[in-house]
Amino acid sequence: MDGAHRAGEREKMMMMFRMSPALSVILTVIVLLPVVSAAAPVLPQDSLHKSMGVATCASSLCHGAIEKWTNSRVLQNEFITWSRRDKHARAYSVLLNDRSKEIVRKLGLGEPAHRADLCLDCHAHNVPPAKRGEQFVMSDGVSCEACHGPAGRWLQSHVERGARHQDNLTNGLYPASDYEARARLCLSCHFGTKRKFVTHRLMAAGHPRMSFELDTFTQIQPPHFQARSAKGDLQLWDGVKIWAIGQAIAAHELLEILNDPARGRNGLFPELVLFDCHACHRPMSDLRNAGVRLGVGPGVVRLNDASLLMVQQIARRVDSAGSARFAQEVESLHRAIAAGDNALVHARAVQEYLARLVPGISAYRFSENDLKGMLLGLIDDGLSGQYGDYQGAEQAVMALQAIGDFMARRGFVGATTISPGIRKLLSLLKDDEKYSSAAFATVLSDLRSSINKGANR
Ligand code: HEC
Ligand code: HEC
Ligand code: HEC
Ligand code: HEC
Repeated sequence: MDGAHRAGEREKMMMMFRMSPALSVILTVIVLLPVVSAAAPVLPQDSLHKSMGVATCASSLCHGAIEKWTNSRVLQNEFITWSRRDKHARAYSVLLNDRSKEIVRKLGLGEPAHRADLCLDCHAHNVPPAKRGEQFVMSDGVSCEACHGPAGRWLQSHVERGARHQDNLTNGLYPASDYEARARLCLSCHFGTKRKFVTHRLMAAGHPRMSFELDTFTQIQPPHFQARSAKGDLQLWDGVKIWAIGQAIAAHELLEILNDPARGRNGLFPELVLFDCHACHRPMSDLRNAGVRLGVGPGVVRLNDASLLMVQQIARRVDSAGSARFAQEVESLHRAIAAGDNALVHARAVQEYLARLVPGISAYRFSENDLKGMLLGLIDDGLSGQYGDYQGAEQAVMALQAIGDFMARRGFVGATTISPGIRKLLSLLKDDEKYSSAAFATVLSDLRSSINKGANR
């Protein structure tokens, strides 16, 4: 697997963003709009409205300025940022490369990747022909409208005097500024949905493993926006909330697929992507007994519980009364899967809890004490062996980084209390096949003392 290269690249990007004060200004703000809808908004691809194509957004007077505008709420150079630096603009052309040809050949698809809905559904804005405007071209890839929603009915109105955000939303603008809606949007391609999904077959044919964390990925996407509060103030980046909501939604979506009869199985076997890759993919001599630690016994394929582990830390803060029951439900879920019992009822119970937790997270203000509690809680999970699996460790580091960064910006810890430890942890994640939970634990333990010292100053 190519974890090494990808982790390295991501580390470079993460370091760049986390370290540079100039960039941190760009990354500052985002407004949390009140959660308006109880039901999840319709994803851009499923919208009834017409998609007009990137060309309609890109004129130099609209979003295609070479330099950003100084006196505008909106930067106006979004097109340049997206087309020159954002991988989404190249998502379609990836389908023409040798790796994609190889994937398609191994799958025996019978049509090239750039014609196959299977691939276009995530590598472009694949809407039905009747929903394409004159300037729509598939080769735009993951276009403006793939995230902001088809512009057929708001293209004109969103620039009119007195245009109201709510009217634009009614006309098909996707509410990407709402964290929950944003998490669903990103995860629809970066994890998948009932309708589009990177299966184990696709991965075995050469598709990269998916790993996603909303705050990290929001920060490594070349920034083309600078959100403001209602009064136009620059606010601090709300990384912890974005991370927490992203984890709850990710866990919810994983269980949704697990419960879906059409997706949950692949022939005789369950859909293996939902399980810990390294439970199967490692040498036999490398005994880890991760199942024993989890209480499900040896030799058992384990659900990929990386996001559920993160949510346990979040739930302890946001819902201290209910979090113990949640932990028990998760345990029952693991046991049922290991025993081959019907896991459905436990998966549903966990999902219902998650659905209730998300609005709780949105409304919650994480205190300094909460942040430190989560940081130490994540570390202690690692020290007690919960990150026997690479994917748990990977999510934990992204979490430590999101929380550590947030705390440093607010001055709760010094900038150097956490970042050297994170850098070491990232280097231990470079190659998923060489990951050692023991080496990981040693660094976690150092990080723990450094945080305690930092806090006692
Ligand atoms: C559920 C959505 C989804 C589907 C379906 C999907 N992909 Fe992807 N693909 C992604 C995402 C997201 C990434 C980026 C992963 C990352 O970097 O974390 C990606 C990455 C890739 C890459 C690596 C790109 C690079 O820059 O190195 C290739 C190649 C690729 N996909 C080809 C395909 C082909 C061919 C198909 C169809 C057979 C396909 N994908 C189907 C979402 C999808
Ligand atoms: C991968 C998803 C994605 C793509 C592709 C994308 N955007 Fe965005 N965009 C976002 C997110 C997320 C935000 C921040 C949330 C918000 O304010 O709506 C944002 C914010 C913006 C904003 C600021 C909105 C405000 O009220 O402050 C503008 C303008 C914008 N995008 C225009 C574009 C244009 C033009 C393109 C294409 C050239 C584009 N975006 C492509 C996800 C995307
Ligand atoms: C329509 C599908 C789609 C949506 C929606 C989407 N992405 Fe992506 N994203 C992709 C694909 C496909 C790639 C891989 C492109 C490539 O490698 O060339 C990608 C790549 C990325 C990358 C680069 C990753 C790397 O390893 O370098 C980041 C960062 C990213 N997406 C963030 C986001 C965020 C944040 C959101 C939500 C606001 C989002 N994406 C929404 C399909 C999508
Ligand atoms: C239940 C065990 C199991 C799990 C969990 C699992 N795999 Fe697999 N994987 C297999 C088997 C079995 C094969 C087929 C091996 C063969 O063809 O010899 C395979 C094949 C592959 C291959 C192709 C290897 C080759 O030699 O052709 C890749 C790549 C892969 N898996 C990636 C993953 C990823 C990524 C995950 C996690 C998201 C994962 N697997 C989870 C059992 C598993």
